[in-house]
Amino acid sequence: MPFDPKNVIELTDAALAADYTRVRRAASAIVRELAKAGDEKAAKELRSLVRKRGVPLKASGYVESLPVDAKSRLPLLEEQSWPDVPVFLNAEANRIFHDFLRDVQHVDELCAKGLASRLGLLLSGPPGTGKTLLAAHVAAQLARPFYVVRLDSVISSLLGDTAKNIRSVFDFVPSRDAVLLIDEMDAVAKLRDDRHELGELKRVVNTVIQSLDNLDSHAVVIAATNHPHLLDPAIWRRFPYKIELGLPDVDVRKDLWRHFLFEDRDEAKISNELAAISEGLSGADIEAIGLTARRNALLDNRPLDIASVVSAVLHSSSDKSALPRRDALDADHKKHIAQSLKEHFGLSGADIARLLGVTRQSVYGYLKQEAEAHDGG
Ligand SMILES: Nc1ncnc2c1ncn2[C@@H]1O[C@H](COP(=O)(O)OP(=O)(O)OP(=O)(O)O)[C@@H](O)[C@H]1O
Ligand SMILES: [Mg+2]
Repeated sequence: MPFDPKNVIELTDAALAADYTRVRRAASAIVRELAKAGDEKAAKELRSLVRKRGVPLKASGYVESLPVDAKSRLPLLEEQSWPDVPVFLNAEANRIFHDFLRDVQHVDELCAKGLASRLGLLLSGPPGTGKTLLAAHVAAQLARPFYVVRLDSVISSLLGDTAKNIRSVFDFVPSRDAVLLIDEMDAVAKLRDDRHELGELKRVVNTVIQSLDNLDSHAVVIAATNHPHLLDPAIWRRFPYKIELGLPDVDVRKDLWRHFLFEDRDEAKISNELAAISEGLSGADIEAIGLTARRNALLDNRPLDIASVVSAVLHSSSDKSALPRRDALDADHKKHIAQSLKEHFGLSGADIARLLGVTRQSVYGYLKQEAEAHDGG
């Protein structure tokens, strides 16, 4: 028997009680045992099952009691599944991410020695840089369910209800041994310029602070914000671990292209070049461009059209939503791109030829014609 019967009994019991949290936890324990016993294949299969979202319990007649807004009766929280996309981080972010996981996993030991700090992680960065994704990875790594609350949805027109909402969210999470992501943490700060009074705002902030303070030492809370400077310093202090997810640097962009465009195949040269010309794009932008190019290739039954990707990347600096086009680029368009790649990024004729999918001869032709056009005009 490769695994501890205790886990199988727990798994069965949890499944019959329709308790996904416990099912996932027991199955994750079995995954670890399988991996330890060297059965990677079975471990991998089970791991991917654990990450699947369960059948909505409502369909089985079971009503999961998520906390709801007092007035609208809408749920204040949403359970989200564990990610199926890896998260690419720069070295510094990766280090803090792993330190945080390590401290969570050793919290009992650290508590016993009086060394534990709050398990609060603050993620800041522009839209589409992987804040929500990273939070989901924390939950997956810890094999805990992942709940997301958008702070602005908790804020009600009635102050009393807001406080009640905040408290019921914070009461719920430890009961599930979950990871809680508070998204749009800056929503409270934004109330400042609304019709709300300052005193009211202060009381909401205080309720959040009190709720954070009342959490037990095992509770993992992650906050995400696009505007870290708007956060109240008292809230800021309650998140000892901080990761700044800026726009991806050139190494991270390379990983993103490799994953989203080349499905992790090793296309080092082209990935490098795409990384070099895509400064300013977020992970979400690169994902959108990569997946669109792959979709076009699949549906038209042809190889990836890298030239259309390059064109979308170059257009993205002016038009945030530029995506690869389905039809092939014409010669004029390619000429333009060749010129731009040379002028702004100093790429060689060979590099440009590779990106545009044409011969080096054609590139020299394009560059010459463009130069002549310039001289003439
Ligand atoms: N660093 C990254 N590594 C891998 N994928 C990424 C990364 N950044 C963004 N993505 C891709 O973009 C998608 C959107 O990212 P995500 O929702 O996590 O961004 P966010 O920072 O939470 O944005 P917002 O501020 O708009 O909520 C991810 O699901 C992922 O597919
Ligand atoms: Mg997000």
